[in-house]
Amino acid sequence: MRIAVPAETDKAEPRVAATPETVKKFKSLGAEVAVQAGAGAASGFTDDDYANAGAKIGARPADVLTGADIVLRVRRPSPSEIAGANQGVAVISILDPFGNERALAELAKAGATAFAMEFMPRITRAQTMDVLSSQANIAGYRAVIDAAAEYSRAIPMMMTAAGTVPAAKIFIMGVGVAGLQAIATARRLGAIVSATDVRPATKEQVESLGAKFIAVENEEFKQAETAGGYAKEMSKEYLAAQAELVASHISKQDIVITTALIPGRPAPKLVSAQMARSMRPGSVIIDLAAERGGNCELTKPGETVIVNGVKIVGALNLAGRLPATASSLYAKNLLAFVETLISKDTKSLAINWDDELVKATCLTRGGAIVDSRFQN
Ligand SMILES: NC(=O)c1ccc[n+]([C@@H]2O[C@H](COP(=O)([O-])OP(=O)(O)OC[C@H]3O[C@@H](n4cnc5c(N)ncnc54)[C@H](O)[C@@H]3O)[C@@H](O)[C@H]2O)c1
Repeated sequence: MRIAVPAETDKAEPRVAATPETVKKFKSLGAEVAVQAGAGAASGFTDDDYANAGAKIGARPADVLTGADIVLRVRRPSPSEIAGANQGVAVISILDPFGNERALAELAKAGATAFAMEFMPRITRAQTMDVLSSQANIAGYRAVIDAAAEYSRAIPMMMTAAGTVPAAKIFIMGVGVAGLQAIATARRLGAIVSATDVRPATKEQVESLGAKFIAVENEEFKQAETAGGYAKEMSKEYLAAQAELVASHISKQDIVITTALIPGRPAPKLVSAQMARSMRPGSVIIDLAAERGGNCELTKPGETVIVNGVKIVGALNLAGRLPATASSLYAKNLLAFVETLISKDTKSLAINWDDELVKATCLTRGGAIVDSRFQN
């Protein structure tokens, strides 16, 4: 069994899909691993590190892809980026298929069996494979670090001979994995933290982290969590009531970090232009939902917009801003999934097509898209 780890081709992607640690584990499972030279450089892993772990280093993509049974990537490869791999090669990656159906169809046509790691079911068995959680956790942490760097004042209260500096007020909107880590990080820095979400289960989580919970707790709120544990898209009426509640709160905040998402839908708009303008100059909004349209009306993905002295940061790939940590966790997520796809006896790919993890993540197989959501 041959596993290929080509370098990521997107310049904005510093993460890598395998680390020397996971290469060692793959070797112990009986696999050959080929890593493209420089693939781990942006994450701090050298070619020597990979070679010492037992990988073969190839200078060009073709050197690692030839004869590959499995290709590990962070971002979806194009057909030319898997050229040389075996027919039916298992491509394991974040496939980002919504809105990219054509690229997915091309991957299918190239004969790849492509698995979308972001569709891994959020069940106990698959916790070790949950890339959304492993990366969101880092993004939540990094959002607070970035906010502190952009903010024009100190975060903790400081009592000095020259006077007392008040603690910064940080408001977290959306308390999933990223939001919870943002609360914990903001608390560690000494901020006064509050948070909001539409799922009732988050109230206790917010309070247990020492933050204040703010939400419209009506009948709709009580029903806002789907069976899968995600938020429902809320009604216009609810969003209006929520906006009224948070508007006056936001005007008193120094930093707002937004993380609110609804699977497969655009991010809900929670911070209007007026709310952003109501904050005092020097304040910061970090919008983690920027990639999905943003939670703030003024967000521009990948840019920092300054309005009335308020910085609105349209943060992209925040997990990639801590590439060594993000890659280590991502690579372990992939290792855990690959372990379920191989036979320990024959030391070869033995995919169980009835496995719920395979069913949920496999998007292309046998030359076609097999997930009806992405078929034309
Ligand atoms: N293996 C597991 O059991 C496991 C692992 C990770 C996460 N989870 C659960 O999955 C769920 C989703 O977590 P996630 O981080 O992927 O969420 P997410 O990234 O989909 O969304 C982030 C947060 O935004 C919130 N949100 C949506 N609309 C909102 C609005 N209008 N106003 C305010 N907030 C809004 C959501 O409720 C969610 O908490 C959570 O219940 C989490 O605990 C389970």
